[in-house]
This record gives sequence, C-alpha cells and structure tokens, in this order.
Amino acid sequence: MSSVLQPLHPIGIGSLATNLVPWLSAQRYSRIVVLVDEHTAEFCWPYLLHALPQAKAWPLIVVPSGELNKNLRTCQTIWADLFEAELDRKSLLINLGGGVIGDMGGFCAATYKRGIDFVQIPTTLLSATDAAIGGKLGIDFLNLKNAIGVFQQPAAVFIDTFFLNTLPDRELRSGFAEVIKHALIGDPILWQYLQGIENLRAADWNYILPRSIAVKSGIVEQDPHEQGLRAVLNYGHTIGHAIESHWLESPSPLTHGEAIAWGMLLESALALYKGNILQQTLQPEVLTPFLERFYTFPVLDVQSVATLWALMQQDKKNSNGRVRITLPGESATTMRVIEPEEHDFLSLF
Ligand code: GLY
Repeated sequence: MSSVLQPLHPIGIGSLATNLVPWLSAQRYSRIVVLVDEHTAEFCWPYLLHALPQAKAWPLIVVPSGELNKNLRTCQTIWADLFEAELDRKSLLINLGGGVIGDMGGFCAATYKRGIDFVQIPTTLLSATDAAIGGKLGIDFLNLKNAIGVFQQPAAVFIDTFFLNTLPDRELRSGFAEVIKHALIGDPILWQYLQGIENLRAADWNYILPRSIAVKSGIVEQDPHEQGLRAVLNYGHTIGHAIESHWLESPSPLTHGEAIAWGMLLESALALYKGNILQQTLQPEVLTPFLERFYTFPVLDVQSVATLWALMQQDKKNSNGRVRITLPGESATTMRVIEPEEHDFLSLF
C-alpha cells in the first residue's frame, strides 16, 4: 500500500516501483545521477536498480560513509563528478542513503550551478522520519556538526520500508526516538499506537511513518526556516546533543536516538522542575517506563553532569548566552521554551 503526502512536495511512502517510477517519468529530467556510500551501493542500489528499468544508464557517485566524511572534501568530489557527468540545470540528483548522504547530497545539488533538483530516498529510519524531511542540508566544518548549509526543499522524498529490513536493531531503535518525538509533539493517536509496540521489527511502518512525517512536514510548512515553531522539533536535542557528544569519546558511543530519548526525558523533568505544567504524555512517570522499553540510560557521575552542562552552553540554539530548551506546548504542535540555569540542571541528578 502506497501513501503520498503532499505538503511541501510529494512524499511517497510505499514501494519505489509504485511511487518513484511514475513520478520520474512525469518530470522529464535531462539527466539523472545517483549518490550512494559503499553500504547503500551494496545493499540499496541493487533494489533501486530493480525498481527502475532505465537505471543502468545512470552514473553512480560513490562516497565513503559516515559523519567523518560529511565535509567539504567529499563535496568537492561530488561536485567534480556532477560536472564530469555533464549535468545541466534540468538534471536530477537522487540521494540514496541515510542522513549523511541526504544532507550532503542535497547541499551539493542545491549549490551545483546555483541549484538542481534532488530527490531523497532515505534508507534508515532516522533519515526517513527526520533528516530527509524539511530541507535542512549541509556538512560539518571545523568539527562543528552541520556548520555550513542551506535550507532547500527536495523535489520529492520516496520512502520504501523495504530498506528498514536492512538495518540492525540498534539503528532501528535510534530512528524510533524521532518517531516518539513526533508523536509527543503533535499526534496523540500515534502516541497511543506506539504504546502497543513491544518489538520494533514487527511494527507497522506503513502506518507509523505517514503519521510521524505528517507532524514534521506540517511544522516545516508553517516555519520552513526555523524562525519560531520549527524549533519544537529540537525537543530532546539540547541535552541529547550534549549526551551524544560526551559519549562520542567513550568506548561505547550512544546512537543519536539513544541520546535524544534520554534528552527528552531530562528536558521534560527540567521543565517540570522549573514549574511548567506539562501535558500528561510528557510527565516523566509516563515517559520513563515507555522509553525504558527500548533504551537503557546509563548512570551519570558528577564529572559527566558538569561536562554535559558545559556542552549545552555551546548549543547553536542558545541566545544571549542562555541555554534554550524547546518542548511541546499545552496543545498539539505548539511550543514552550525554557531557559534553565546551571543549578536547575544540576538538581536533576
Ligand atoms: N531535525 C529537526 C529539524 O529538521 O528541524
């Protein structure tokens, strides 16, 4: 069963053969190039090739996988390959991969000859529900994540849940944190549905993904450049990014979703501590048992707590030197902002 949401641009959820192929033939692009990394070249490109009868003729650009390669050097190789393939302004770049491929491929397409169309085909749950939607594109620079980039919406996004079968359990759980976030921000029916999930492998992604994506794309549509409401999508991410960065140095780094799940819990607890009245679903006694079904939250020592606070002070969402945390408001898709002091944060531990 395919479903196509049409808020910002077509978002097809279902088989690529059903959604992507007819869309492509209606567009009449002069040339098409596909960007992959070594993993999606091996595990995802053959599936796309099978769905697309003419794909054999398309040049493939292969870049090394991973956040460490999401940089200007890799962009230079992509831009050079786009010139070598003689792409004109009516060409299309298809980004087949997770968040790194989508963010960097989109950035290269948005800047090549002042911009050509690109399509996102996310292959991880994290990118299907978050990174591929909303047009945030970019690369890391001077060790800062997504420091250089642009906002530019893709021509379309096509999600085939077949790719989720290729993911390890931990990667699936990582993306699931963003699904939980979207449910908490704006879809009480999805939240109810998620309560019944014990095993992510058995979850009905064709039901979950359109609802999760509808929350995000509805918010992006109202505030594409994050001047206001879009910041609610950062729920869990101020503390979560600090946790992710802190654990990056450890022998067992946390995934993005593990850090964000923990971040959501701590940010809710902090808002409560600061006297905010939270919707029932954000109350730590409701959130904790649900999140602990999927995630384990390590114990924090005093030194780690201090490091987290220091890292939170580098957060790019801060303003006037104050840490800013955004949480869902009292009704769906509204936002509240809290500005905790150090002693508020320390009181959580
Ligand atoms: N990941 C949050 C956003 O796209 O705004």
